[in-house]
Amino acid sequence: MSLPTPTPGNRAVVTGASSGIGAALAEGLARRGYSLILVARRADRLRTLADRLSAAHGVTVEVRGCDLGDRDQRRQLADELASRDIAILCNNAGFASYGDLAQLDPEREADQVELNSVAVHHLTLAVLPGMVQRNAGAILITGSTAGNQPGPGNATYAATKAFANTFAESLRTELSGTGVGCTLLAPGPVRTEFGDVAELSNLDKLLPDALWVTAEDAAEAALAGLAKGKRRVVPGAFAKAQTVSGQYTPRAVIGPVLRAVYRKIT
Ligand SMILES: NC(=O)c1ccc[n+]([C@@H]2O[C@H](COP(=O)([O-])OP(=O)(O)OC[C@H]3O[C@@H](n4cnc5c(N)ncnc54)[C@H](OP(=O)(O)O)[C@@H]3O)[C@@H](O)[C@H]2O)c1
Repeated sequence: MSLPTPTPGNRAVVTGASSGIGAALAEGLARRGYSLILVARRADRLRTLADRLSAAHGVTVEVRGCDLGDRDQRRQLADELASRDIAILCNNAGFASYGDLAQLDPEREADQVELNSVAVHHLTLAVLPGMVQRNAGAILITGSTAGNQPGPGNATYAATKAFANTFAESLRTELSGTGVGCTLLAPGPVRTEFGDVAELSNLDKLLPDALWVTAEDAAEAALAGLAKGKRRVVPGAFAKAQTVSGQYTPRAVIGPVLRAVYRKIT
């Protein structure tokens, strides 16, 4: 599996490109010569990034200010993507909430499911028929190590990322031989605005610097893995250890351990 060749007409789409891993994915794709469609709610940030990337790399960069949790806005974007030559889709936008589910804002929890799972499904379904017809395309899905294990104190997020992880790995096998690839990016802690959005004040103190990965390193590992047709990319030693413990520790053991961990960080 290799990535489709960038052309003046095709596009790489990055959701959640206004910050963190998504901004770094956009940068990495522009450096590789891809013209882009950048998606997030903060269109002003996307425009600043678009101007910088087109000046630095000579690519065309389009901006779509879109709330992917809003079904009408998302449908408009999905319809547009279905009608265009999309070479690469990076389904990356997402956020988390922490705390016991019964205490959390039900609307924000539902928004999380809509963004982290339903939007990933929707946009993938929009671009997939075109990719399969062209026998070329690549889909990156940003899941998480949180999706490998139960998340008491982080239940909605863990469940949405379990969807993302399983969906990506299922598709990857389903698409074998079609010329279309699908890779899961399943990071552990990455320094971005993620913690601020989730209102996590203690995470920084709990985890030493050495355990964090930069957004740039996570994005580069993801794009290298996508180009190689890798099933799953897990950037950094800590995330690799989390993956093994999350997948192989008995649920009855890891559940209470993670409950204690999440209580410390919230
Ligand atoms: N950082 C970590 O430790 C970590 C670990 C594992 C997995 N991840 C995953 O990595 C992905 C990227 O997160 P990040 O760490 O880069 O966090 P981030 O810096 O907070 O970026 C999140 C991006 O998602 C966008 N977004 C949020 N809500 C949206 C909505 N309703 N519609 C459209 N876009 C929306 C944000 O843009 P706007 O606010 O402008 O809309 C922003 O561009 C997420 O899926 C996250 O779950 C992160």
